Amino acid sequence: LPPVLAIDGPSGAGKGTVAKAVVRALGWHFLDSGALYRLTGLYCQRQGVAPDDARRAAELAAVLPAEFQVAGEAERILLDGDDVSTELRTETTGALASQVAALQAVRDALLQRQRDFRRCPGLVADGRDMGTVVFPDAPVKVFLTASAEERARRRYNQLKEQGADVSLASLSEEIAERDRRDASRTTAPLKPAPDAEYLDTTGLDIETVIERVLAQVRG
Ligand code: CDP
Repeated sequence: LPPVLAIDGPSGAGKGTVAKAVVRALGWHFLDSGALYRLTGLYCQRQGVAPDDARRAAELAAVLPAEFQVAGEAERILLDGDDVSTELRTETTGALASQVAALQAVRDALLQRQRDFRRCPGLVADGRDMGTVVFPDAPVKVFLTASAEERARRRYNQLKEQGADVSLASLSEEIAERDRRDASRTTAPLKPAPDAEYLDTTGLDIETVIERVLAQVRG
């Protein structure tokens, strides 16, 4: 089986940025598992399915008409042929994602789809349970975290860069709320795999984090 680098951690810890840098450096494939939960949340909303309706949400997750298009540096995500790349990143969609992600039936419906991303020469998998559930045999696992303040600030800068109209205060509030929901749920609560390298990135610049993770992969 091709190798997997599993990167898990809470919202705004820098997983996406680190994952994409490693993908560029190694030429590996990329799984953004959060995008699958975000797409499921959005699809439920569009189909009029409540985000706590386990049976119907799982049915939608199982047939998710999603497409990941990569063209150089740009990436487009389509749902039912619609470009939802921007809508997917909003905190509104993040909240929906976190609700459907609490449903075990939804997680089960997305499991094989995530494993299918594993291809040669390797896969960088970004999420919450990559090292614990989806790829427990991954040879390299990293758990990235940072203080809640720093994570809110990073997410704020990221959304600003994308031209979004957000305030740091309300974003901090929303992220704290989602952290609470993610941490308190009984389904797949966020925790590092026992064999994961724990990296607190508070105060570290992203380049340093990328170097450390690359060093792990290169052994
Ligand atoms: O980037 P950020 O961490 O803010 O969000 P994301 O990775 O796109 O994930 C959105 C939500 O999906 C999270 O709040 C989790 O509740 C859920 N999720 C999950 O349960 N398991 C994963 N492997 C990935 C995301």
